[in-house]
Amino acid sequence: MFDPIKAIIDFTAHASVSADPEAKGGINGAVGFLKDLFEKEMGLDVKVVETPGHPVVIAKRGGDPAWPHVVVYGHYDVQPADPLEEWHTPPFEALVKGDEMFGRGVADDKGPVMVHIAALARLLERRSDLPLRVTFIVEGEEEIGSVNLAAVMRAHKAELSGDFLLMSDTTGLGRDDESITTGLRGISALEVRLQGPRQDLHSGFHGGAVMNPVRALVALCASLHDADGRVNIPGFYDDVVAPQDWEREEMDRLGRDPEDYRKLLGVPELCPPPDFDVFESRCFGPTLEFNGISGGYQGHGSKTIIPAKASAKISCRLVPNQDSFRILDLLEKTLRERCPKGVTMEIERHHGGDPYLVLPPHKSGEDADTAKGRAFKAADEAIREQFGSAPHYLREGGSVPILSDIRRILGLDALMLSVALQDCNMHSPNEKLDLIVFERCSKVSERILEAVADGV
Ligand code: BES
Ligand code: MN
Ligand code: MN
Repeated sequence: MFDPIKAIIDFTAHASVSADPEAKGGINGAVGFLKDLFEKEMGLDVKVVETPGHPVVIAKRGGDPAWPHVVVYGHYDVQPADPLEEWHTPPFEALVKGDEMFGRGVADDKGPVMVHIAALARLLERRSDLPLRVTFIVEGEEEIGSVNLAAVMRAHKAELSGDFLLMSDTTGLGRDDESITTGLRGISALEVRLQGPRQDLHSGFHGGAVMNPVRALVALCASLHDADGRVNIPGFYDDVVAPQDWEREEMDRLGRDPEDYRKLLGVPELCPPPDFDVFESRCFGPTLEFNGISGGYQGHGSKTIIPAKASAKISCRLVPNQDSFRILDLLEKTLRERCPKGVTMEIERHHGGDPYLVLPPHKSGEDADTAKGRAFKAADEAIREQFGSAPHYLREGGSVPILSDIRRILGLDALMLSVALQDCNMHSPNEKLDLIVFERCSKVSERILEAVADGV
């Protein structure tokens, strides 16, 4: 019998931090773990595809080409665990406490991907002759922008073409409130660096003669929003499509209290921009954020200098139908046009991805008598059964940039079953997975796979 809890614990023990060049051991460990699990425990055909970055694991249950084919996506890489001192338990020794498991990656995305692995394992234990092809594609670079996955998909296009993509890498509302994610925001990111004098200068000797790069940078950054909080880049909102009425209604129905949310975040006031309320703006609206800013003296006490340089990391979250390349171009153009005098500017463009929207067939009106249509129907029914209420169909604010490429390259739409919860501490200390939700979702996934196989 497949034991998914033990499997997540073993998976978590491999510190597969994709951003850390020292973590090759953890990456290889996670890849080896997946290979053994897929091959030895489940009898799938496994390929470990090397890339210039971290490998991609492709595991396949083949069969009659006439059978439906479900492609399952997940990522084995995790965010760095620091700050370590804020963890109550060691991040890479997953620990079960009551109905929760703690550890880096248990919610993003090792636990959620295990939902579908467990579902197929149990289904095959029950029905070894199941008329269904399933291919898992588990990558190791999601947290650093999936830079090599598109090339792997193009190279393996034939074996990855299928009926739809099944995945879990988004967040739900709570233990009794399951949701199917209908959209994710896209992302455009860059770093801007301003150089003033060749080296730091005495601010008394030279102050008054030169432009201070920190002053130039903050003026530049401040110009990127207007007084109301809208993004102040010409053309930024041009392609934004308003959400459909039912999407707003679905959000309103949740009846969430902004005051509770304010307290949860510990801010003196919530500051949504105009046009949307605070909950809507997190998924229906685009943003521009400063992820980090630096320049000048950061040590103890004071130091009277004019710093030589200053820099900022900026990223935008995008909504349909904004295009991540176009937005990056607009941002870069705006920064260059507004570059204050007396400094030189250097811009480094980072990876990005387009926004993603996938409406379930009963909302979009498309033909439901397909493998994808049956999957959404089975998901809806199984969620009602397992969670005791109908699923919420909601967009989310985060990004899985590769999804738009998966649609473009492989032609697959995603059914996104949320497994992690809002308070799961994804990317933060004390990341956790709710094991009740895990178990329910695994049963839902099993039902989806079985319904697709049986064509019902
Ligand atoms: N699983 C998250 C994305 C996510 C989080 C979607 C919460 C919905 C709700 C994913 O692993 C992630 O962290 N994505 C990054 C992408 C970035 C590194 C390009 C993100 O959203 O910041
Ligand atoms: Mn993730
Ligand atoms: Mn993540």
